[in-house]
Amino acid sequence: MKAEIALLRGDGIGPEIVDGAVSVLRKTAQIFGHDFNFTPYLIGGCAIDATGMPLPEETVNGCLASDSVLLGAVGGPKWDDMPGDRRPEKALLGIRSALGLYTNLRPAKLYPALRSASPLKDEIVGSGFDIMIVRELTGGIYFGERGYREGKYGNEAFDTESYSVTEIERIGRVAFETAMKRQKKLCSIDKANVLETSRLWRKIMHGLSENYPEVEYSDMFVDNAAMQLVRDPRQFDVIVTSNMFGDILSDEASQITGSIGMLSSASLGDGTRGMYEPIHGSAPDIAGQNKANPIATILSGAMMLKYSFGLKEEADRIEKAVDSVLNAGFRTADIMGSQEGTPLTCTEMTERILEAL
Ligand code: IPM
Ligand code: MG
Repeated sequence: MKAEIALLRGDGIGPEIVDGAVSVLRKTAQIFGHDFNFTPYLIGGCAIDATGMPLPEETVNGCLASDSVLLGAVGGPKWDDMPGDRRPEKALLGIRSALGLYTNLRPAKLYPALRSASPLKDEIVGSGFDIMIVRELTGGIYFGERGYREGKYGNEAFDTESYSVTEIERIGRVAFETAMKRQKKLCSIDKANVLETSRLWRKIMHGLSENYPEVEYSDMFVDNAAMQLVRDPRQFDVIVTSNMFGDILSDEASQITGSIGMLSSASLGDGTRGMYEPIHGSAPDIAGQNKANPIATILSGAMMLKYSFGLKEEADRIEKAVDSVLNAGFRTADIMGSQEGTPLTCTEMTERILEAL
């Protein structure tokens, strides 16, 4: 097949890890006879430096004209003092919203080879866990009204959370469908004991659950979920939650797998175009040093093949290559755990994966 892929390398380690993923996608295309064309666009801090804006119109139009988008990471200390609406992070929210990507799939699974990098005890992790977090991505407090006003104690800042029936229903449907393709277990996470948006969320999820009698459905409060994830992660199959709770819980879930450098994500809307990115950030402390772990971005590339292009065999090939490199003992610095020796650089890890393909 032929595909146009927009590349948003972004800031910090973004360019290094995206380049790693692009070489893996190119090699995969070559093996299977596909034709992928990559076009870079600016986003985040580098876009601010070049154009004054974190999300130039050209970037939005370029992504809209592509079949799919691969993103590295945005942000860094250089732009931390920018006003809220001009920060690099604002570009990320802007592009998610402009492309209508309301679903964010964040798989968190324990690689047996990285067992020693997980901070959880053996008896908790057992034979491993495999969780799919379905995070709502274009609503909630991230996109609600915000600002400053006069309050009870003088000047105050405010952010608002709102969720419509439509927004909850569409993410709920994705979550139930995702569960149907997996272990048929879905846990919806909210704060319905306090928040009105959560009470509506819970009511709608309950309604949907009646259409999916095969799915074992439950709800959980977010504070309890934070605890349960480290107490017994094996109880979860698919989790569905709001934008903010999903942001927090997906970082927690990544940490118990051993490294945030391993976790990929897919952001999807109603069509096949998606945006694929590692869940970690721009790691300015190691940027430009060739130390970053490219695996999360490489696996995000595999998710693109599967979810946007329906190329399941190709995606499997990439995942197997990553598995075999890890099983052979190759590690970047972040996943060394207690292993001795010199960690691989970003480009060396990419090379190993290319060979394994
Ligand atoms: C993520 C990130 C972003 C988010 C930030 C960088 C805006 O933390 O993708 O999880 O909060 O969504
Ligand atoms: Mg986050």
